[in-house]
Amino acid sequence: MEDVRHEILTGLTTQPKYILPKYFYDEKGSDLFEQITFLPEYYPTKTEKQILKNLISHIDFDFNNAAIVELGSGDASKISLIFSQLTDEILAELTYYPVDISYAAIQQSITDLSKHFKLKSITGLVLDFNTQFHLIPQNRKRLFLFLGSTIGNFDEKERHRFMENLYHEMQPGDHLLLGLDRVKEMAILEKAYNDSQGVTARFNKNILRVVNRILDTNFNPDDFEHKAFFNQKQNRIEMHLVAQKNIQMMIDKRLNISLKQAESIHTENSYKFTDADIEKLTRNSRLKIKQVFSDENKWFSVIYLVKTN
Ligand code: SAH
Ligand code: AVI
Repeated sequence: MEDVRHEILTGLTTQPKYILPKYFYDEKGSDLFEQITFLPEYYPTKTEKQILKNLISHIDFDFNNAAIVELGSGDASKISLIFSQLTDEILAELTYYPVDISYAAIQQSITDLSKHFKLKSITGLVLDFNTQFHLIPQNRKRLFLFLGSTIGNFDEKERHRFMENLYHEMQPGDHLLLGLDRVKEMAILEKAYNDSQGVTARFNKNILRVVNRILDTNFNPDDFEHKAFFNQKQNRIEMHLVAQKNIQMMIDKRLNISLKQAESIHTENSYKFTDADIEKLTRNSRLKIKQVFSDENKWFSVIYLVKTN
């Protein structure tokens, strides 16, 4: 808990201020994200699901007695699409590890999946995939899933560090399905993060409730405005919370956090990928690309990779 407090306080006392996006996902945040996935403007989930729906017969992964490890599994709706493409015999010998920082998301997804699929086992792992890879069991051949373009929430350095850790965690013969959102028309991108029902704004502001619980502060989400825009230079959507007035917050009666009116807290980057970015990411990862699956508009891609040695 001290590490978590320290991490958040560091972000709120630096210039410019930030809160790491992993703090979005308490129970309410996971629920709001799930609502986002159904919004008409939020194309990534729909598009990736469209790709995943028929993908399994096109990849050479041998699912017999295998394990699927899904990083940042969330509501597990994508794994359901994959399970639906496997036979009962395969499922009966399959092990599934949903990995997520959100305890609520893991709990809910295990309940939902157990109702619909008879697997050998489902074991949820509540952990931080940036630092705790070593806690994932290694006793079977594995298909890793990292979907939803969650990797786009890392900057380039974090992304390469993540892929480096993943490479070391994977055994030769292990495979990865990696979902990446692609650069596209700016209006489409910006709409996806500024939905007309204001769900993304609520998701963004919810991070302050999480911070309040951890730091024992009382930031009022209504004192902030949701701001999301495409930064063309960096090819990323940026989400911010912009203070609508001057705000002062005392922590432990000694540390003062102050925000001036119009000052913003940067809460998320969501990088969008070009062909060149994908080439660079996979080259640095040392994994071998076997196939690339995209929708017809090339809005989203799922890359199938293997660790060869
Ligand atoms: N894969 C799902 C969910 C994406 S939302 C989909 O494609 O729809 C991102 C998920 O990653 C959330 O469920 C969140 O709780 C999880 N997450 C974010 N940061 C994490 C971290 N550092 N470690 C583990 N899980 C994390
Ligand atoms: C989880 N992640 C890939 C989502 C994204 O699109 O960057 C989170 C999100 N933020 C706002 N809307 C959705």
